[in-house]
Amino acid sequence: MNHLLKLSDLTKEELLSILETGHDLKKKLKDGIETPYLKGKTLGMIFQKASTRTRVSFEVGMSQLGGKPLYLSASDLQMGRGEPIEDTARVLSRYLDAIMIRTFKQEDVESLAEYGSIPIINGLTDLYHPCQILADLMTIQEVKGSLENLKFAFVGDGNNMANSLIVGSLLAGASISVASPKGYQPDELILETYGKNPKFILTENPYEAVKDADVVFTDVWASMGDESETEKRKLIFQDLYQVNTELLSVAQPEVMVQHCLPAHKEEEITTEVFEQHADYIFEEAENRLHVQKAVLVHLMGVPMYASEFK
Ligand code: CP
Ligand code: NVA
Repeated sequence: MNHLLKLSDLTKEELLSILETGHDLKKKLKDGIETPYLKGKTLGMIFQKASTRTRVSFEVGMSQLGGKPLYLSASDLQMGRGEPIEDTARVLSRYLDAIMIRTFKQEDVESLAEYGSIPIINGLTDLYHPCQILADLMTIQEVKGSLENLKFAFVGDGNNMANSLIVGSLLAGASISVASPKGYQPDELILETYGKNPKFILTENPYEAVKDADVVFTDVWASMGDESETEKRKLIFQDLYQVNTELLSVAQPEVMVQHCLPAHKEEEITTEVFEQHADYIFEEAENRLHVQKAVLVHLMGVPMYASEFK
């Protein structure tokens, strides 16, 4: 693995190996064991959209690994004034050891990887959010033990979270049902690739998706970049696409709810359900830190983790 651009680039072994390293680094941190594996390395973090979790967890994670994080607001870079991504990639590759980028177009992340010569990590695009799904899978392993044959359901907008969740769930051996309204279904590319997989169901009916689910996911109805559609989307989503007690009554009794945050309470999730599942949701946020440290050590070739990761 040279980059983390999207989860479909990973094999199942690579996915499980990252998660295992995440658990290992989490335990070491809790036990007070230092992990300065990236001493002398610098991670550039380019942000073209807002962030709380991604920014802080990468920044703190890189520091805990003994390296240096460098926050780069896209609007302050020449990129923001039109310098091509191809040139930005070739310049930054000469200063940095890896780049994490949060931006709009997936193609920009792919171009950084193509023209640069250092590992690139996708910190969210309109199409994918791979780091979030790694954290979610790590959290589910902690609660449920294994991922194999669990039933996942996603309710809401077929956005970056839904797209990456479909890929990550199927790769991990779980099944995934997605309930989204017409016109807001997951990306065409995802539907073409996974549409015929017997472990993937797409429906407009949240009750069908959530039936017997072990884990239920949701996310905002209007993502970053969709703000102008907020009111229109509210009208489309509000009657049916909310994770609430009534919907969860058809899931498994021990159902776990995940939300990548930030949450719009009383929209995609009720405050009641959010608070009932808050321990899982905030553990999920914490695990961004641990699993992204795992991604960093794997991508930057730390020898002690190299053997479990080809
Ligand atoms: N879940 C997530 O990516 O959060 P931020 O937008 O705060 O980074
Ligand atoms: N789907 C959301 C996720 C935020 C972490 C967005 O793209 O805004």
